[in-house]
Amino acid sequence: MYIPAEDSYLLAEAVKEYSGKRALEIGVGSGIVLEELQKNFELVVGTDIQLQSLGYARLNIRSRNILTICCNMSAPIRTKFDLIVSNPPYLPNLSTKIQKDLPVDGGLTGIEWSIKFLELTLPKLEPTGKILLLLSSFSNIEKLNHFVQKLKFAKKEVNQRKLFYETIKVFELSRI
Ligand SMILES: C[S@@+](CC[C@H](N)C(=O)[O-])C[C@H]1O[C@@H](n2cnc3c(N)ncnc32)[C@H](O)[C@@H]1O
Repeated sequence: MYIPAEDSYLLAEAVKEYSGKRALEIGVGSGIVLEELQKNFELVVGTDIQLQSLGYARLNIRSRNILTICCNMSAPIRTKFDLIVSNPPYLPNLSTKIQKDLPVDGGLTGIEWSIKFLELTLPKLEPTGKILLLLSSFSNIEKLNHFVQKLKFAKKEVNQRKLFYETIKVFELSRI
């Protein structure tokens, strides 16, 4: 279970600037970002691979316009969304352990989880929709840049916070 931290609050702050019909959050953790999204969207869907996280998030969710699904990223979802957000597992994992730390393990260079998320989830974005993705100075953002350019998406930074040991940033991605 992911206890809300600086990264959770930064993404929750960023989503306040967006509104529309449908929003999707991948990796809801405690649900604090969902709570913010439901203020400006008619329907909000949140997924998490950990059932325990969703159980915890549901305890905090008071709104009727939030649906939660336990699944891998956006795999079973067929609807399109105006906004798709994620504070993903973003730390590099060089360990050989088979058991992953699901909330933080972003793959070998910390960006592989996010690239997989984009491959699976971009088809579920409305043509004028936007993605918000939180990343850290520890993540391989160069690798993401190449991927985004190939897709012909624009990427811009919308907010950031310097922490003692890293800088976290929220990026907005949209079709050019
Ligand atoms: C860094 S935490 C962020 C939690 C919350 N959104 C926040 O900002 O506090 C990442 C979340 O992604 C979830 N997660 C990891 N792999 C996932 C996957 N393949 N599909 C869906 N959720 C996943 C984890 O269980 C965790 O709750």
